Amino acid sequence: MQAVGRRLGRIYTPHGVIETPTFMPVGTQATVKTMSPEELKAMDARIILSNTYHLFIRPGHDLIRRAGGLHRFMNWDRPILTDSGGFQVFSLSNMRKITEEGVEFRSHLNGDKLFISPEKAMEIQNALGSDIMMAFDECPPYPATYDYVKQSLERTTRWAERCLKSHARKDEQALFAIVQGGMYEDLRKQSAAELTSMDFPGYAIGGLSVGEPKHTMFEVLDYTTPLLPADKPRYLMGVGSPDALIEGSIRGIDMFDCVLPTRIARNGTLMTSEGRLVVRNAKYAEDFGPLDPACTCYTCANYSRAYIRHLIKADETFGIRLTTYHNLHFLLRLMEDVRQAIRDDRLLDFRDEFFARYGLFDN
Ligand code: GUN
Ligand code: ZN
Repeated sequence: MQAVGRRLGRIYTPHGVIETPTFMPVGTQATVKTMSPEELKAMDARIILSNTYHLFIRPGHDLIRRAGGLHRFMNWDRPILTDSGGFQVFSLSNMRKITEEGVEFRSHLNGDKLFISPEKAMEIQNALGSDIMMAFDECPPYPATYDYVKQSLERTTRWAERCLKSHARKDEQALFAIVQGGMYEDLRKQSAAELTSMDFPGYAIGGLSVGEPKHTMFEVLDYTTPLLPADKPRYLMGVGSPDALIEGSIRGIDMFDCVLPTRIARNGTLMTSEGRLVVRNAKYAEDFGPLDPACTCYTCANYSRAYIRHLIKADETFGIRLTTYHNLHFLLRLMEDVRQAIRDDRLLDFRDEFFARYGLFDN
């Protein structure tokens, strides 16, 4: 294991500065589900992620452009990163057909036939006006054969070139490339070499957390992260479990995003300093203490496990607002602790202490 990658950083964007390593809450449909921008600011979220694929299908990027861009449309004045659609097209849509030109697919909403090319992904993200845009890529499934992954990453490189060429707002929006290559070391090397030669302002590692074992993901990070320029942001896509945030930070990752904290909150699962807590469990029926006694969030300051359990069981929206608030606060606070531990040069000790209490949960 590599312990020399950890670093602190700052990313400057037109909507503010981001201290790294950082976690980005996911606001797929121009909202972090159940949270207002004021609440996200109160928990100190510095940047959120949104999705090209979803906003293209509904309400459409032209409408958002007419609204004055995504920041104005959703009343969020801090940085936004948009994913390119290269992943969602594969995970959500039906009947997709991939060619050199792009991906043809049917909308998961109404079956409409749609097409996204690298140029289209840039047009959409230019209209949204996100601070950080992602190149249009293909995220191969796991497992996939060596030959397939090689062909796919070579196409992703050609697509990245086309993205760079058609990106119309280079002074206002940073375009990051996405390194692919599956679980094959020499293919990750090839992808990183091709993309870094094109000089993007930041690099993501894609194609992970697609069903491979955790230790495999960490191995891929061990050999991929050092291939990326040290003076540019490194973003690990779609990864947000506490162990991956800490292990990724140890290996020199600067940015993370994941639906995990918000998704599990909506079925009543909490991340706490002592591990996972399923608040629906009968044993919390008369537990009048907070979700996490060590937590300083709004939810934990004011509401009990018993009350939140009642709300969730009764399908009351306030319940999922409280659990979402807590889980996001927990991960943002964890990243703050990670940054402090790096400042104090004790991240490996911090990891050991964290997991002694949290336990090694699978997610
Ligand atoms: N989100 C999680 N993984 C990926 C990936 O490989 N590509 C893109 N575009 N988004 C992702
Ligand atoms: Zn809390």
